Amino acid sequence: MRAVVIACRSHRSIDGADVEKKFNFSNAHKDLIARDAEHVLGWRYAPGIIFEKGRDSTIIDVDGNEYLDFTSGMMCLPLGHGHEELTETVREQAGRFLHENSWYSNPQLIAFAEAITATLPDGLDVVNFTVTGSEANEVAMRMALGASGKHDIISVIRGLHGGSLAVEGLTSIGGARRRNLGPLLPPANAPAIHPPFCWRCPINLDYPSCGAACLAASEELIDQTTSSDAAAIIAETIMVAGGMIVPPKEWLPGLKDLATRHGAFLVLDEAQLAPARTGKIWGFEHYDVVPDMVTFAKGMSAGLAICGVVTRREIAEEARGRAGTPWAGTYSGDPLPAAVALKQLEIVERDNLALRAETLGARLASGLEKLRQNYEAIGDVRGKGLYCMIDVVSDKQSKRPDAEMAERIRYNAALEGLIFICVKNFMRFCPPLIISEGEIDQAIAGLERAIKSALAGYPKDVDFRASSSLAAGQERASI
Ligand SMILES: Cc1ncc(COP(=O)(O)O)c(C=O)c1O
Repeated sequence: MRAVVIACRSHRSIDGADVEKKFNFSNAHKDLIARDAEHVLGWRYAPGIIFEKGRDSTIIDVDGNEYLDFTSGMMCLPLGHGHEELTETVREQAGRFLHENSWYSNPQLIAFAEAITATLPDGLDVVNFTVTGSEANEVAMRMALGASGKHDIISVIRGLHGGSLAVEGLTSIGGARRRNLGPLLPPANAPAIHPPFCWRCPINLDYPSCGAACLAASEELIDQTTSSDAAAIIAETIMVAGGMIVPPKEWLPGLKDLATRHGAFLVLDEAQLAPARTGKIWGFEHYDVVPDMVTFAKGMSAGLAICGVVTRREIAEEARGRAGTPWAGTYSGDPLPAAVALKQLEIVERDNLALRAETLGARLASGLEKLRQNYEAIGDVRGKGLYCMIDVVSDKQSKRPDAEMAERIRYNAALEGLIFICVKNFMRFCPPLIISEGEIDQAIAGLERAIKSALAGYPKDVDFRASSSLAAGQERASI
């Protein structure tokens, strides 16, 4: 196990918590942070650490401090940073052919499409490639509209499908991200139904005695609020940004049934999940359901931006020439990202990382569960495989979300050499699938110290209103 160098100056132990740790950046590091703020427009966590290197599960800032990366970048790197075989593939392919005209193909793209469809149930045979996950979901929308000739696209409350305007209209994770966009979004044709959020049930019932009543309530919403002309229902297999909502076993089959009865396609968005993170290559393999379309992004892209939608040949053909499909952008299908993403998928399968995600995920979940039992602020632990989340609350009784406490914990964890994602009161753990058992234990121990420090009111002198999802009244949180 690699030792993580803690980026701190001084500390004093109170009740086991190193409560006075502070970041101690070099002047060169501080200068980069200031230049970033001056010229790069973006959301930044506090402090805006500048990273410059990565190896396996570790990322290294410009001062040489090491941190465990429990974000896998933007949830994109199942093999972690600097994987030798991927680096070699980048080198080799970049020197040969990296970009081409989108109206021609290349061997790498064809092989990647074949490899993806080989992991899917029979029938999901054709891939339309895109650059981003948002674009993949937009192409799925286009296909649904083109093949059905209908209009409504139904989404699920607390789902996130990206940030371009059409998929923003299908996104309902709250906050102010839609503010001032109203006239540009298509809410009239994008009704949303209830999520299967058992811990915060939208209709105030308990699972399993509810009999998945959110489905029946959703059907009523569809009947009463749509034009009865639904082209598709789109859902994240597990709603990640909206609260790591792992549906109970009957929900996705029920959703498919609902879609079928309304003559709508079921589109599952696996941007956050595939490949292998949940313990299966595709998250929906945990459920008795096969979608009509599945979209992939982040983890399948190997960090090089190759995303897409997979569907059945007859849907693609029915949509051909309609609603702008098949879709071809400037970079969709380039040989460089295709070669690297293909190599990554081969390694994920060769090294059986799905099984590893399941096994190490159990270790991560049990460590988090122990923290839940010991700390009032950790209301719930949810997740599947190596993707977990804690729901940070003011107290377990009220379940009141405590976004500022979550942000304090994230900040203190960074002082412990741990990089976590925190959006609102949801803190996520999404390490590379190659992470070791020791690194998971190290993260749980560091997280506990971070929680203790946060509960003790540390840090005292940081204004979190400008940090990440708390910035400007939770303006936007698009991860
Ligand atoms: C489930 C889901 N779908 C789609 C997207 C959009 O992907 P991208 O940022 O590549 O457009 C995201 C993340 O932003 C996501 O979490």
